Amino acid sequence: MSQNKSVVICPAKTLAGSVRLPGDKSISHRYAMLGGIAEGTTKLENFSTGADCASTLGCLRPLGVKWERNGGSVVIQGRGAKLQAPSVPLDCGNSGSTIRMLSGVLAGQDFTSELAGDDSLSRRPMSRIIQPLEMMGAKIEAANGGRPPLHVTGARLKAIDYKLPVASAQVKTSLLFAGLYADGTTRIEEPIQTRDHGELALQAFGAQIDRRMREVSISGGQKLRSIEATVPGDISSAAFFLCAAGLFPDSQLSIPGLLLNPTRARLLDVLMGLGLRITMSELEEQHGELVGTLLVQGGTLKGVRIAEGDAAALIDEIPVLAAIAPYTSDGIEIRDARELRVKESDRIASVATNLRLMGADVEEFDDGLRIPGGQKLHGASLDSFGDHRIAMAFAVAALRADGATEITGADAAVISYPEFFNALESLVQR
Ligand code: S3P
Repeated sequence: MSQNKSVVICPAKTLAGSVRLPGDKSISHRYAMLGGIAEGTTKLENFSTGADCASTLGCLRPLGVKWERNGGSVVIQGRGAKLQAPSVPLDCGNSGSTIRMLSGVLAGQDFTSELAGDDSLSRRPMSRIIQPLEMMGAKIEAANGGRPPLHVTGARLKAIDYKLPVASAQVKTSLLFAGLYADGTTRIEEPIQTRDHGELALQAFGAQIDRRMREVSISGGQKLRSIEATVPGDISSAAFFLCAAGLFPDSQLSIPGLLLNPTRARLLDVLMGLGLRITMSELEEQHGELVGTLLVQGGTLKGVRIAEGDAAALIDEIPVLAAIAPYTSDGIEIRDARELRVKESDRIASVATNLRLMGADVEEFDDGLRIPGGQKLHGASLDSFGDHRIAMAFAVAALRADGATEITGADAAVISYPEFFNALESLVQR
């Protein structure tokens, strides 16, 4: 995906203005997949503009799902539970969500599909879905030790009771989707509660789900019906602007139409703890998802330790929190975040490398980082490591550095937020 284009970010004085975010990536994937296997026409507005969600739509077509897209508007002609055997490999691009969640749907079909992706995706662990989906009756062949490409041969599935060994919403959702095709009731228990968009999306499409603390169950054979929805703004993309606002005591930022689902909004608690003033207004529920307007005012950043359940809840936001950590007064420590090592890049290593290139003192652990506060950073030549969140996190860090920062491979941002650099430039003041 990355063309290795670079951007140069110059220091800023403050950040002010309003920004509306394209639709949440996690929700866009789920609505697209469920729209494909629902009955009727699903109409989505503010669909994610990222390449990852385009990969999901791209995979649906060879499976016989017709859809049309006009910017953020996507109309999907659902074909019901049974998909068509694809005559080409399904290209999941850079998207772990696409390959893992779609495998759950394909596990219940009566054909074999091949799912492949780019170099980064081909290094990511898939045994976390292979094992439980095979317990349900599917057959999944993988390359080199449980990595993509995958060959998924569907079957008449049987329900399982399964305790997730890793806290992963992608795996949970994959099994819930497979559970739709299983005989009996599939029960899933997670070690720590992860984002619940799979559950809420299934309910929005008319499925009956039972939820109890960290346990969720779904009975097979349920029919889904289409929905009309506006996807709320992506809070993980907003995280870059929220953290950038944190760098300047007099910053002011407003974000309307933002996803505020409590399983995704832990960042707001952390930022308030660090010293930002954040208020929410115009709260409403849309298809079970909490949405509202966020008003943010800068402050002086203190410090925080992120560990245990917080690490899982903040998994996509940790790179940018780590990138602003040197500018806090007391530093940021992140532990229990080993999962970061198997994301689009090894995010612990990517963050540590780039912070050090900017002159920061960083301690790296197997499961996290300790970054002391009160540090001054200088501009540097950095790499995105082909990872969208690393490209955007260091554009934020660069705003308070001494001198300009060049980020090679910055175009990786297209994976989740193609408009990021323009939006950032429209908010910063120099
Ligand atoms: C996602 C869950 C997270 C997250 C990813 C999207 C989802 O992955 O990092 O960007 O939409 O369910 P894991 O659940 O594998 O940690």
